[in-house]
Amino acid sequence: MFKLPWLSSIASNCRLRLSTTRNQFSVTIPTQLPPHFTSYSFTRSSNFRSMSSSSSIGEIPKTHKVIQFHENSESLDVLKYEDVAVPEIGDDDVLVKNKYAGVNFIEAYFRKGIYPSEKPYILGREASGVIAKVGKNVTNLKVGDHIAYLSGKTFAQYTKYSSKSNFLKLDSNVSDEKLKLYAASLLQGLTALTFINESYNVQEGDYILVTAAAGGVGLLLTQLISKVKKAHVIAQASTDEKLESAKRAGAEYFLNSSKLSADEQVAKILEITNGKGVHASFDSIGKDTAELSLAAIARKGTFVTFGNATGPIPPLALNRLSAKNLKVTRPQLFGFVVTPDEYQHYTSWLFKLIDDGTLKINVFKTYPLADYKLAAADLEGRKTSGKLVLEIPH
Ligand SMILES: NC(=O)c1ccc[n+]([C@@H]2O[C@H](COP(=O)([O-])OP(=O)(O)OC[C@H]3O[C@@H](n4cnc5c(N)ncnc54)[C@H](OP(=O)(O)O)[C@@H]3O)[C@@H](O)[C@H]2O)c1
Repeated sequence: MFKLPWLSSIASNCRLRLSTTRNQFSVTIPTQLPPHFTSYSFTRSSNFRSMSSSSSIGEIPKTHKVIQFHENSESLDVLKYEDVAVPEIGDDDVLVKNKYAGVNFIEAYFRKGIYPSEKPYILGREASGVIAKVGKNVTNLKVGDHIAYLSGKTFAQYTKYSSKSNFLKLDSNVSDEKLKLYAASLLQGLTALTFINESYNVQEGDYILVTAAAGGVGLLLTQLISKVKKAHVIAQASTDEKLESAKRAGAEYFLNSSKLSADEQVAKILEITNGKGVHASFDSIGKDTAELSLAAIARKGTFVTFGNATGPIPPLALNRLSAKNLKVTRPQLFGFVVTPDEYQHYTSWLFKLIDDGTLKINVFKTYPLADYKLAAADLEGRKTSGKLVLEIPH
């Protein structure tokens, strides 16, 4: 016997059919719910052995195309579109034939060496696709199932993934358009949703500074803070066009970082907030905006620093915080969606918001996998607004 409080709460909310087989359980949700929740599965233990054997869909080639680098560099020229061996899967793994992969700014940190990596390093952090092969212990997925998932090495035709990890099992006849939506929304959507609840729990009426407010995460933060939390967003971006996008997403106040100095931006923030400052700054820019954020945050406010677009913030003396009793947090998404119930809580909330139209996923452009270098140039060159997606050829 084991207790599953999170599961019974989902069951009571969603009218689920539950089945348990020794250490494995699966949850099947009736189809009147959004299609991506038609079936949602978790595996609890590694001990379960099923009768199913390894199987495959179509011809799985010996090699596949990936985007990888062999050395760190500021330059995009180290990004290579190359053939490597298709990964071997273990008994508990599946092989996913990817259809779409989301592009995220974090890839730049791995390429540049800000974050460590083993070489050669295959890029990618999220994707959607179809199960092409399952290991002999896998019972919660079968060949032909569609999933969306968070994982490394997704800028590739095939990705090995553990069936014990969290994933979204999609409707069997999910459209291409929906597959793209899942690949476009999972990482940045969960980032924005977890951060506004866990890093600083935004309250109604708060004033919140969002940097890169027209970026992938920025547009989602702006929508969620304004529409779901009913707080005021002060959006910072580098062009008026980007600020227009932030306005459409719900921002009320605007800072053009190309036209206003940091001091002028702080003065404007203080003017907007009656001299008090913002309750929190959600700042992904890093080195160049840390001081601006610290100056703009109100007494007892929170500095949520979650990215390094201009480089990592140099060491910060903790006694800098005491003047205003500030809190600083440096979150990463993967620390907030570790357990099945955390993952289920935030993914179901995220896709409910997308399905009911509260949250819009703005896909800036879809690039073929081979053109990732171009996508990275656009993203790092600050030419984009919203999400970039790669389409994986087969
Ligand atoms: N901690 C986590 O778990 C987590 C998860 C997801 C994302 N992130 C971080 O969130 C940030 C946003 O990610 P994203 O994928 O959505 O990217 P993005 O915001 O779409 O693109 C980055 C934006 O940063 C701004 N920027 C300012 N200075 C820049 C510079 N020197 N070079 C490049 N960009 C600059 C640009 O907006 P303007 O031109 O308007 O300034 C640019 O559009 C990144 O820092 C990323 O690492 C963190």
